[in-house]
Amino acid sequence: MKVEPAAIPPKEIHDFFSSLVTPRPIAFISTVNAKGQYNAAPFSSFIRLTLNPAIVIVGIGRRKGQKKDTVNNIEAVGDFVINMVDENLAEAMNKCATEWPPEVDEIKETGLTPMKSDKVKSPRIAEAPISLECKLMQIVEFGNSPGRSTIILGEVVMLHVKDEIMTAGKIDPRKAKIVGRLGDGNIYCRTTDVFHLQRP
Ligand SMILES: Cc1cc2nc3c(=O)[nH]c(=O)nc-3n(C[C@H](O)[C@H](O)[C@H](O)COP(=O)(O)O)c2cc1C
Repeated sequence: MKVEPAAIPPKEIHDFFSSLVTPRPIAFISTVNAKGQYNAAPFSSFIRLTLNPAIVIVGIGRRKGQKKDTVNNIEAVGDFVINMVDENLAEAMNKCATEWPPEVDEIKETGLTPMKSDKVKSPRIAEAPISLECKLMQIVEFGNSPGRSTIILGEVVMLHVKDEIMTAGKIDPRKAKIVGRLGDGNIYCRTTDVFHLQRP
C-alpha cells in the first residue's frame, strides 16, 4: 500500500497519520489564561526533542479554524506544564479532551488538583506522576489552511517526579505506569510489559 498525504482528504489523513507513529506519549498540558483561569487538555503530537537546552515540542491543530484554548493561553502567558499520564489519570485526561468553553477549568471539572508551579505561571496537576514546567521558546506555523497546526517549542525549566515511581535513583516504568496512545480513536497501551536489550 502506498499513500500520498496530499492526495487524500484531511479527515482520512488525520486518522491514518495517527496510526503511523505509535505508541505516543501524551502531554496532558495545563495552562492559565490572562484572567487566571486554568485549562487542561491532552496532546499526543508530542516529543522530548533535545537535552541541551531541554526542548519539548507539541503539535496542536485548530478547531473549526480557531486556535484551541491551550494555544491561546500559551501565547498569552508564555508558559505551560506537561503532565505525563499514568493509568490512574487516563480517564480524567480523556474527559479533558471534551470541547469545553475557554472559561471552564477542566482540572476542577474532572476532580483533579491544581498545584502552583515553581517557575511558571501555569499550574501543574498534583496527581500526575511526572510534570514538566516549560517556558515557551517559539511558536511555528506552516501554510495557511484553516486546519493548520501550531507547533509549540518549550524549554523545560523544572521537573517534578513522584518519589514512589523511582527505583535506585531512576524512573521505573513498571511503577510509573505511563500510558501511550496507539491509533486514532480510543486505543491506548500500557507500558509495564518491558524488556531489555544490551547494546552490542
Ligand atoms: C489522547 C489524546 C490525544 C490528543 N492529541 C492531540 C494533538 O496532538 N493535537 C491536537 O490538536 N489535539 C489533540 N487531541 C484533542 C484535544 O485534546 C482537544 O481538541 C481538546 O479539546 C483541546 O482543548 P483546549 O481547547 O482546551 O486546548 C487529543 C485528544 C486525546 C484524547
